[in-house]
Amino acid sequence: MVAYCGAMATRIRYAEIVDRGVRIGFGRDERVVELPSRWLRDHGDDEASTDPRTRQRKVDTFAIPADVEPQELTFGGGRLTLSWSDGATTGHDAGVLADLIENRRRPRAARADRSIGIDPELDLWVGESEPFSPVDAESLDHPEGLATMLGLLHRRGWVMIDGVASGEQAVAELAGRIGYVRRTIFGDVWELAPGLSEHLDSAYEATDLDVHTDCTYSNDAPGLILFCCQARDGDGGESVLVDGFAAARDLASGEPFLAGALTRFDFIGRYVEPGVHLRAERPPLQLDPAGYLVQVSFNNYDRAPILPTDPWVETVIDAHGAFHQLIADPGRQLRLGWRPGRVLILDNWRLLHGRTAFTGDRRFLGCYLNHEDLQSILRVMGIIRR
Ligand SMILES: [Fe+2]
Repeated sequence: MVAYCGAMATRIRYAEIVDRGVRIGFGRDERVVELPSRWLRDHGDDEASTDPRTRQRKVDTFAIPADVEPQELTFGGGRLTLSWSDGATTGHDAGVLADLIENRRRPRAARADRSIGIDPELDLWVGESEPFSPVDAESLDHPEGLATMLGLLHRRGWVMIDGVASGEQAVAELAGRIGYVRRTIFGDVWELAPGLSEHLDSAYEATDLDVHTDCTYSNDAPGLILFCCQARDGDGGESVLVDGFAAARDLASGEPFLAGALTRFDFIGRYVEPGVHLRAERPPLQLDPAGYLVQVSFNNYDRAPILPTDPWVETVIDAHGAFHQLIADPGRQLRLGWRPGRVLILDNWRLLHGRTAFTGDRRFLGCYLNHEDLQSILRVMGIIRR
């Protein structure tokens, strides 16, 4: 029996029981897929299969008979309902099924040549083509304003907010609109100013700072950095931002072999001070299993030695240098000036940041946040679906 659904918006046009599963016809190009019986029996979204509040699985996956088969199928109102040989009935939202079938993160054909995939939802940018448009802090009190800020942060990897109050509480409250403050060896909300002697790091000087990502020595590097300017006078001291995803895309286009090397060879990040010795390793360009770029890690200050006996050492050095040549190009960089009450939030898994040398007073409070918490609020607010 073939069941047709009138709700074309679901993208699934018909469904029918076949041997060992259900055949689904969907999409404008009339694609057909067959979903296996055991998979369907396990993936219902009815209340017996899945808790509607938490989406936690309730079905006993491992008690499903290996030879389970659908007995009856109905399809209407955007839902597929199946009666099974083990006596169960499962329901399936046709839109959710279509999303799973169409999953745009399925392995790409290009994966075979190790090219670098970029999430098409992101707006990659190069240098001053990037518009400077600070968000007003008061706008964040309204859901639309918060969604605007989060959308900017998601799509371009950074957002600037003006009019934020001074002090630690204001920083923690602003972080709380996204997730929560991530505690590290630097504490919760930390202070950043020249001459602070609590930690031995180049960030506490007044010299220029080459572009980098933070915490390459952490297995789960913080996903966001929040800087809140508390005081500023003097010259220089601009923050420098580079879109690391755009640089990776362009390296893959011009030097695919070197870009591929940066996806395959781990670099070691290291942080050492009295009582602390952190170390983590991962490739500078981290891809997900489908070949999409998910994280850039690049910090030459904190890089531990590359092994000189590695047979690929020359390639690794070439690739490292080629990527740095791109991110150090002033034409790719965005420079942002500071004044008290101004906040910069940047995606530390995508953007590299640095600063120009400066004179005078330049003090910040700041904090880290987890990348997964940004993803969480983006899903909750409907800005991303995956
Ligand atoms: Fe940094």
